[in-house]
Amino acid sequence: MASGTFRTPKGTSDVLPEDHQYQTYIKKAVRHRCRQAGFKRIDPPIFEKTSVFERGIGQHTDIVEKELFLVKSHHTDEGEPEEFALRPEFTAGICRSYIEHGMKQLPQPVELYSIGPCFRHDRPQKGRYRQFHQFDLEVIGLHDASLDAQLIHVINKIFKDLRIYDRLTMQLNNIGTAQNRKDFVAALKDYFIGKERNLPELDRTRLETNPLRLLDSKEEDTQILLKNAPTLDQFIDDESKQYHETLKEYLDALGATYEENPYLVRGLDYYNQTVFEYWDNDTGGKNAVGGGGRYDPLIEMLGGEPTPGVGFAGGMERIIYQMKQAGVQAPHKDQIDIFVAQLGPEAKKMCLLLISQLRDLGIHTLGALGEASLKSQMRLADKFQAKYTLLLGQMEVKAGTIILRDMAAGKQQEIAFKEAVPTIVKLLGEDSLDTYTLNDKFEEEE
Ligand code: HAM
Repeated sequence: MASGTFRTPKGTSDVLPEDHQYQTYIKKAVRHRCRQAGFKRIDPPIFEKTSVFERGIGQHTDIVEKELFLVKSHHTDEGEPEEFALRPEFTAGICRSYIEHGMKQLPQPVELYSIGPCFRHDRPQKGRYRQFHQFDLEVIGLHDASLDAQLIHVINKIFKDLRIYDRLTMQLNNIGTAQNRKDFVAALKDYFIGKERNLPELDRTRLETNPLRLLDSKEEDTQILLKNAPTLDQFIDDESKQYHETLKEYLDALGATYEENPYLVRGLDYYNQTVFEYWDNDTGGKNAVGGGGRYDPLIEMLGGEPTPGVGFAGGMERIIYQMKQAGVQAPHKDQIDIFVAQLGPEAKKMCLLLISQLRDLGIHTLGALGEASLKSQMRLADKFQAKYTLLLGQMEVKAGTIILRDMAAGKQQEIAFKEAVPTIVKLLGEDSLDTYTLNDKFEEEE
């Protein structure tokens, strides 16, 4: 039963060990597929100057207007009256980093990925949190539909590895250039002259600040009015249309499936041309598990030289939900192999070293070194679901032996103390030992 005075803040949660097993599994799939495709890991700071997000994502987007967590400090550095905000996403920060570190000098495209927490002060509900985790992939420096297709293909592989690909449908659209959208927005505003009163309040405001958002409005009244409104695809220029056709050819060549969705616009200002989202087949766009697109204008918006890019972010909590729905168990290495029980001061001393030796060999070992009775130590071994228990009492110490109990079979035997370690290694099998070597060949970051 829950008790205590404090709770996690609204919209946040503890990532408990069980969910960490899923998170670790997802991170492994992401790292593996990213490495195969030449991506390198980057971690921008968790907070940045607010203007990075304002300029990048857009001042009138929901994310910036309503959802930024501002960071306050008791001190302001001299000459720096800047405001800071927790990152609501990775893209703007990664592009700031690309400019700051002159990555234009590197061979292009620069492929970067990141994994970590993001923050949006949204109204918390199922699948929508104030602290959530994204994995994010960015391909910066070149404008070519084959890069969009390859990125989508890598993401598909990750979803296949996680065994949720069949539950998802990728929604695909091309939103043209900034000028195309400007022309369309002008036409949309014209269309709504005299009809504003029929719009729900939120959408009336959006018509002023970010009319494109009307397209994926969840309001029924707005959707009805939109039926006769001009559509974005009437304003897309020939070059963008050609780009979209080429992308579809590449996706077909890779066997990637998608559904064309002319209403998909996405809620961030930096996009142009390709946008896409992964929807689960039950709830559609309500809780997309991930989304992305091309953002050729972004780096220039942040003060860099014009540099195109395309990227994607997946939401870990929503992916974990889909995995659980699909009955996918996250394989993990948290099992307990050996429980060491002891009685008496001499036995306790000997068990300290025994536990350490077993652990060093890659055997997951626990020991109850408190003063509990042997019986209650055995109960603990059961609760921890240890495969074997080693029991050392005063008699065994004197005889130079130890008792080995197979917990599932409920059978035990007395063996020589010095045989304990090799016997356990043999029983578990050399291959299943959890060994770890720090070497130059292989490095796995958190
Ligand atoms: P986004 O669509 O805003 O795109 O977020 C990507 C994913 O993060 C969503 O599809 C969802 O799974 C997850 N997500 C977003 N907000 C929440 C929330 N409040 N609670 C739980 N999960 C959430 C971006 O962030 C872009 N930066 C993607 C991108 C990368 N575009 C180009 N490069």
